[in-house]
Amino acid sequence: MSSVQPSPVGQLRAAGWADLDAVMEVMSTAFDPGFGEAWTRAQCAGILPMAGVTLTLADGGNSVLGFSLFREVAGESELLLLAVAPAARHCGIGTQLMRHYVESAGRSGIRKLHLEVRDSNPAVSLYRQHDFIVEGRRRNYYRGAGGQLHDALTMIRRI
Ligand SMILES: CC(C)(COP(=O)(O)OP(=O)(O)OC[C@H]1O[C@@H](n2cnc3c(N)ncnc32)[C@H](O)[C@@H]1OP(=O)(O)O)[C@@H](O)C(=O)NCCC(=O)NCCS
Repeated sequence: MSSVQPSPVGQLRAAGWADLDAVMEVMSTAFDPGFGEAWTRAQCAGILPMAGVTLTLADGGNSVLGFSLFREVAGESELLLLAVAPAARHCGIGTQLMRHYVESAGRSGIRKLHLEVRDSNPAVSLYRQHDFIVEGRRRNYYRGAGGQLHDALTMIRRI
């Protein structure tokens, strides 16, 4: 029997420039390098000052366990990134970040949430649990490291 205990879920808090190092640390371990889904530091730094952008951290005290990045614009909200460090998964942090995302949009009067995800990404089941439905499919949108092609799904939730 494994002696590994679930990690604490941590506290969600608003984040910004000062947290970029911690965000990039999670980014570097969370995303499958085979798909090029992780953002670069320059991409993150570039979007943070834009209007309507929110970066939220799941703060474990000694380390950052996960984060979300979304943007509210023109009455819609897009979930740009959601990531949890591998060692902290399956403890509900992704769920907590998703709830926060949906609640934030609701507070802002947003009626439509959307995101895009590789169709083979296990995150699809998390999004379905949060009432996102598939609206569209972009054929062969992602190319894996081995050259295999994967569709992207566009998913939406109306609130
Ligand atoms: C997707 C992700 C954020 C989920 O984080 P998490 O903290 O493990 O999520 P939760 O613990 O709240 O899991 C909620 C449920 O989502 C589903 N789920 C999450 N990750 C899953 C996985 N790898 N495989 C299958 N189901 C998964 C499960 O139903 C899970 O419940 P369970 O843990 O009881 O099985 C995390 O796996 C991750 O960082 N993935 C890599 C980054 C990524 O691809 N992000 C999405 C695109 S931006």
